[in-house]
Amino acid sequence: MEQFLSFDIAPMHFDEGKLTLLDQTRLPGEEVYIEIETKEDMWDAIYHLKVRGAPAIGVAAAYGLYVDALKYEGDYVPEFLEHVKSGAKYLNSARPTAVNLSWALNRLTEGLLDNTWSSVEEAKEWLLEEAKTIHREDIEACKAMGEYGLSLLKEGMGILTHCNAGTIATAKYGTCLAPLYLGHERGYDFRVFADETRPLLQGARLTSWELNKAGIDVTLICDNMAATVMKKGWIDAVVVGCDRMAANGDGANKIGTSGVAVLAKEYGIPFYMYVPTSTIDMNTPTGDDIHIELRKGEEIYEMWYEKPMAPEGIKTFNPSFDVTDHKYITAVITEKGIVRPPYDENLKKIMMK
Ligand code: MRU
Repeated sequence: MEQFLSFDIAPMHFDEGKLTLLDQTRLPGEEVYIEIETKEDMWDAIYHLKVRGAPAIGVAAAYGLYVDALKYEGDYVPEFLEHVKSGAKYLNSARPTAVNLSWALNRLTEGLLDNTWSSVEEAKEWLLEEAKTIHREDIEACKAMGEYGLSLLKEGMGILTHCNAGTIATAKYGTCLAPLYLGHERGYDFRVFADETRPLLQGARLTSWELNKAGIDVTLICDNMAATVMKKGWIDAVVVGCDRMAANGDGANKIGTSGVAVLAKEYGIPFYMYVPTSTIDMNTPTGDDIHIELRKGEEIYEMWYEKPMAPEGIKTFNPSFDVTDHKYITAVITEKGIVRPPYDENLKKIMMK
C-alpha cells in the first residue's frame, strides 16, 4: 500500500473524547493544536478559519456537535434531541458557503431524529460513531479522488492551484492536491504553481507549506500572475477544490477561482474542479442560488501589514468565494468517478451511484 503522503499532519484529532484542531491561522510559522471544549469554541474555530476547507469544516463540526451533546446531563431523550438540534443550528451559522457544514450537521441530526433511542447514552454513542464514519468516509473519498484525478495528469506537467484544497482542508490527503501527492510518490515530476490567494493567503501559507513539506516542486505566485505563467506555457492543468457545487455544475470556491477558470479557457488549459459528493448540493439549482460569505474589510487592508494599507475609512467589498460557471469546468472529479458535461444530467447520475 502506498504511503500517499510522506508527512502526517491532520487538521483534527479525536481521541478519548477530546477534539483537537490544528490552528491553521498559525501556519506556516507554528504547528499549534487547540482543544475544542464547547460549541462556542467550535463556532469560533470555524468562523476564524482555524479549521477551514469545506470537508474539514464538515468533519470537525460533526465532532463539535458530539462535544456539545456531551454537555447535556439529563436523561430525557426528547429534551436531548432538542439540545442537539439547537447546537446544530448554532454551528451551522458560523459560515454559510461550504455546504459540508450543513451536510454533516443535517446527517447527524436527521439520523438522530429518524431512530428511536432507549436512552440518551445510546443516542450519544450513535452520534460519536456517525461522526467517526463521516471522518473515515472523507479520508476514503480523498484517496479515490487522488486516483481519478491522477488519471487526468501526466508526468512533468505544470499545474496551477488556487487556495488550499490539501490535506489540512480535508480529513486527510486533500481533494485537488491528493493526485499531486499520489503522483509524486509514483515518480511524476509535477511543477506546481500556487496562487497566494488574497486576502487570507491560503495558497501562500498553507498550499506552499504542505507541498513543500511533501517535497513537491512548488512555486508561489501572486494571484495576478496566473495569466503570465499560463501565457508562458508553464501550466498544463488547473486543479481546484470546491465549497458548494450547484445541481447545474456551477461551483463556488475561494474568491479568485472563477478568474483563473476564465483565463484557463482562454489559454486552452483544462480546468478541473475536485468535488466530493458531500460538496454537491442538488437542492441548489444554480450558482446564483449559492450564499456567498462576505467578510470584514480589514482582511484586505490591515491583516498581514504592520499598519493599514489603505486610507482610513475606505469602503471595501470582501466576498470570500466566487462561483465558477459550469461552462469553464472541464471535468468534476468526485470520489465516485469523473463527471463531464452536461453537468445537470451527469451530476444527477453520479449522486445516485
Ligand atoms: O475560506 P476557506 O479557506 O475555508 O476556503 C477554502 C476553499 O475555498 C477550498 O478550496 C475549498 O473549501 C475546498 S477544500 C478541499
